[in-house]
Amino acid sequence: MKKTFQIAGLMLIVAATAALAHTGVKDPTVKAWMIGMGEIGDNTKVLGSMAKGEAVFDAEAARKAAGAIAEHAGQISVLFKEQAADPKSEALPVIWQTYSDFLVKADALEMAASAAASSIQAEGDLRPALAAIGGTCKACHQTYRLKK
Ligand code: HEC
Repeated sequence: MKKTFQIAGLMLIVAATAALAHTGVKDPTVKAWMIGMGEIGDNTKVLGSMAKGEAVFDAEAARKAAGAIAEHAGQISVLFKEQAADPKSEALPVIWQTYSDFLVKADALEMAASAAASSIQAEGDLRPALAAIGGTCKACHQTYRLKK
């Protein structure tokens, strides 16, 4: 039961902004990191759909999605390096005040996603992997992304 709620919460994270993602964003730096975050969101959705049984479990596709998340997570330190702003952005300025902590949170995602990319074999591996990944999204968003 608890796991179901975790997955549902995670799907809300990825669904909430996906439809309007980066429309009308003018600042190129902001746009670039939003696209990167969007890729992370889309690949998380692939895992979430399988975990919820909306998509058929496919170990290879799941590992591939996790690998893509890890790859994009590895870009976070580069994408957010320079402070930038846009009226559409939900990135909080505190990112650049505690940038090393922000990077620790990016690393946590990269590690959880890499672990998933090399370990998902059976359907039962999916939910724990997704819960680990989802915990890192939440940990970062909670401090560094504007809540709506
Ligand atoms: C190291 C911090 C960090 C981690 C980890 C992180 N995010 Fe984000 N995410 C952000 C920030 C900051 C924004 C706000 C960007 C903006 O609006 O400019 C954001 C925005 C988003 C968006 C909206 C993108 C858009 O186009 O506006 C999605 C979707 C998203 N994150 C999904 C995820 C998912 C799913 C995970 C975990 C698998 C995750 N994020 C992990 C920092 C993080």
